[in-house]
Amino acid sequence: MSHKIAPSILAADFGNLQRDCEMVNNSQADWFHLDVMDGVFVPNISFGMPIIKNINSYSSKTLDVHLMIVDPDRYIKTFSDIGANVLTVHYEACTHLHRTLHAIKEEGMKAGVALNPHTPVNLLSDVLNDLDLVCIMSVNPGFGGQSFIEKTYQKVEQLAKLREVSGANFLIEIDGGVNTGNARKLLDAGADVLVAGSFVFKSDNPTQTIANLKEV
Ligand code: DX5
Ligand code: ZN
Repeated sequence: MSHKIAPSILAADFGNLQRDCEMVNNSQADWFHLDVMDGVFVPNISFGMPIIKNINSYSSKTLDVHLMIVDPDRYIKTFSDIGANVLTVHYEACTHLHRTLHAIKEEGMKAGVALNPHTPVNLLSDVLNDLDLVCIMSVNPGFGGQSFIEKTYQKVEQLAKLREVSGANFLIEIDGGVNTGNARKLLDAGADVLVAGSFVFKSDNPTQTIANLKEV
């Protein structure tokens, strides 16, 4: 399976959201990555349901929703109703992660968990078979445009090993500071999905940048 590219809409031009979504539709991107921030779990507020609903009406691709919010269980059904296909919660925000993952699946979505840079991958060992996706944060969540944390390669390798040994089949996604300089090394370590925000939307030719990430 070739790797997936998920442009992060956080870095798009919100005054021209439909234009930027159509660019993604017409590109080699596989998913839309949508970052929801509540100003509590992370020190920033991004966008919520009305914007995602709009993006869903413009988008012809999988909506990969990354919740950086406390108590995400409150909104699982709502995100399903507005078109989320993959719903990722943070390990650090879930007291009852196993219950949350199954509640996401019961709403017909793929269930993901994201790990902050300080959270070791082996903390997932008892839920590996309940997961559809693990998002390894390669920056501290909250903002686009930050520098990639080098320790990520090692975490991806460790997680890929756990996946192999357990026979689980979740996707490994990398989020934060991804570019064509680190993409190949991440894929070689075991990554399947690359999220890229600033690298795509701040480039001169976002469609070509997505193609470059796809062909890396
Ligand atoms: C960070 C978000 C990321 C962000 C990535 O909290 O989860 O998805 O948009 O942006 P770049 O690629 O600019 O680091
Ligand atoms: Zn994200």
